[in-house]
Amino acid sequence: MKEKLLEKIKERKLKVGIIGLGYVGLPLAVEKAKAGFLTIGFDVQKNKTRQVNRAENYIGDVVPQELAEVVKSGMLCATDDFSQISQVDFIAVCVPTPLDKHQQPDLSYIEASAKQIAKYMKKGTVVVLESTTYPGTTQELVKPLLEQNGFKCGTDFYLGYSPERVDPGNRIYKIKNTPRVVGAIGKDAAEVIAQMYKTVLEAEVAVLSSPAAAEMEKLLENTYRNVNISLINEFAMLCHKMGINVWEVIEAAKSKPYGFQAFYPGPGIGGHCIPLDPYYLSWKAREYGFHTTMIESAMTVNDKMPEYCVSRVADMLNQKTKSIQNSKILLLGVAYKQDVSDYRESPALKIWQLLEKKGAAVEYYDPWVPNVRVNGEIKISRPMLTADMIKEYDAVIVSTAHTNVDYSLAAKNARAIFDCKNALKCITERENVEVL
Ligand SMILES: NC(=O)c1ccc[n+]([C@@H]2O[C@H](COP(=O)([O-])OP(=O)(O)OC[C@H]3O[C@@H](n4cnc5c(N)ncnc54)[C@H](O)[C@@H]3O)[C@@H](O)[C@H]2O)c1
Repeated sequence: MKEKLLEKIKERKLKVGIIGLGYVGLPLAVEKAKAGFLTIGFDVQKNKTRQVNRAENYIGDVVPQELAEVVKSGMLCATDDFSQISQVDFIAVCVPTPLDKHQQPDLSYIEASAKQIAKYMKKGTVVVLESTTYPGTTQELVKPLLEQNGFKCGTDFYLGYSPERVDPGNRIYKIKNTPRVVGAIGKDAAEVIAQMYKTVLEAEVAVLSSPAAAEMEKLLENTYRNVNISLINEFAMLCHKMGINVWEVIEAAKSKPYGFQAFYPGPGIGGHCIPLDPYYLSWKAREYGFHTTMIESAMTVNDKMPEYCVSRVADMLNQKTKSIQNSKILLLGVAYKQDVSDYRESPALKIWQLLEKKGAAVEYYDPWVPNVRVNGEIKISRPMLTADMIKEYDAVIVSTAHTNVDYSLAAKNARAIFDCKNALKCITERENVEVL
């Protein structure tokens, strides 16, 4: 089985299936197709499969021209017909891994995908889970589901885990040039999976001893970010109390050429990964009677940041003898980070809700996000940032630092600005500016 698969990879005869065509799956499908592998994308959302088949791009990191080329040449197509799994040799699973309402891992999407794969896969298929999850998922959850119909892992199919590291909006590191980590059940599976990634990527592929080690590696990456962001958020709050500018402190610390990596404060953490993934780890840790105290503290600090920002805005308005109640506030940016359209878990939306609760009328401008859902209602972005428009508001909050927003216009025309991202660092006239 191993030799056959390696030969198919070499000859580009391996057919690929990507389950889940979102922020991770669509760029991955395009990359595989570009590398010469016939690729079928699977998604439960018909509108996504239709859009792919019409070569209509809906993910910022995908180059529209590249999508058009692979669709036109027949190298990539999409479907919601899971019986076509029987046609593919290599399957990457890129479905969501959210938290449920009790902040516990919700693996229902992985489970559903594994059941579909088990139903239709043929002997000799390679399955790789790419969704972020707790250590043990591949071995304890996915393997038994794939073996349900009598196939044996290692002899009838190969199974492994390779975390996705795509960083939406990153201009340097894309899927193709980002190193990969692979962990699989059995040496042969690891060799085949690693070879597949090596063939598609222009980056190192590291093979770990097990899927659990690879699952843990991904959680280390994201927990590391979460914990360091919380540390710098704590520093920001302390610096404010002490009358010290935390941004100046960070810049100075960066001059040390070793032993320090800069993280920046902000209104909280957002996106589908950094706020959620550490919960996967702390949940699993409890099975071993282990309390991830560092993670819990980090979460406590980060989760409080929207509230802290609102209290700073209240202080700022207070100095102008205004209250949040009945004030008109403009949020500049609702995306969870700069230069992306994704607003999942965005702290800007938490700030919005808190302000509304205190009686403010909130609107937003974000050139990347034409509309958002807040408290179940669709809100539309102000179409343009103009001097007159900015003057309508009692306060402006810079909640995302996009590179295509004119912050100097905001500084010139706003009555008061609370800058959560130090986006106005180059503005010298700062009487109306408060920075986090
Ligand atoms: N977005 C990121 O920046 C990023 C980075 C690294 C890792 N990840 C991880 O990758 C995984 C996917 O994240 P995403 O951001 O691409 O999510 P997403 O919501 O953008 O895309 C997931 C897709 O899977 C589809 N789907 C759901 N259930 C399905 C099923 N049973 N069969 C087929 N398709 C199904 C959804 O319709 C959706 O299109 C998550 O585990 C996430 O933590 C995300």
